[in-house]
Amino acid sequence: MQVDIVEPVEFGRACAEFIEEVLQRRPDALIGLPTGNTPLPLYAELRARAQRGWSAGRMRVVMIDDYLDVVPDEIGPYPWLRRELLDPLRIAADRVLRIPNREAGIEAACAAFERDLAAWGGCDLLLPGLGWNGHIGFNEPDAAIDSRTRVVKLTETTADLNALYWGGRAHPNRAVTMGIGTMLEARDIRLMVRGRGKAEVLRRALREPPSPAMPASWLQRAHSARVLADVNAVQG
Ligand code: PGA
Repeated sequence: MQVDIVEPVEFGRACAEFIEEVLQRRPDALIGLPTGNTPLPLYAELRARAQRGWSAGRMRVVMIDDYLDVVPDEIGPYPWLRRELLDPLRIAADRVLRIPNREAGIEAACAAFERDLAAWGGCDLLLPGLGWNGHIGFNEPDAAIDSRTRVVKLTETTADLNALYWGGRAHPNRAVTMGIGTMLEARDIRLMVRGRGKAEVLRRALREPPSPAMPASWLQRAHSARVLADVNAVQG
């Protein structure tokens, strides 16, 4: 997999360029977007562009993951994405394909999500972040290459790190994630890796033979996947 390395200050702009390129080819492109710390410069860059008059136009968004049955409602990837991106860019709810996040009927809802993703034309560009243990979305280690959208149990560390995002107001133990197989169907994938502490996991994801133990390594099997890393992420 090709790895593009940029200075930290260039990270948001470099990610935004991927989106711009896709939108030029397809104005209503469906973009798969994560939450977490990694994409924050991307969202800041898109908000800054919007303030200068740029419009997301007909861009559509598909969520990569969500927590399962977490309360209160203002906690979780969807409110996060609304605050950081969807509301400032005026991307209306009917242009967002959400991952189901309620336990009642969840299996049928996951199957419906997969059908909707296909009916929306599939994902044009998927921009996952890289987790501390090689997870992408919430595909924790032991994720099969053909896994589909499903409920997953979070590892303790992932749960603790997610609780930190919310100042401890929630401690999500289970999540719903696009499967690895679902992700690999995206037309293009750019793995975003930013900040210190990711170098070793990135090295393993790129160099080790693909295996369920290192979910991001499955991206080696994608028909079109590249990595965008900032210099901090490859140094330490
Ligand atoms: P981070 O999380 O962007 O906050 O480092 C990445 C992830 O867990 O997928």
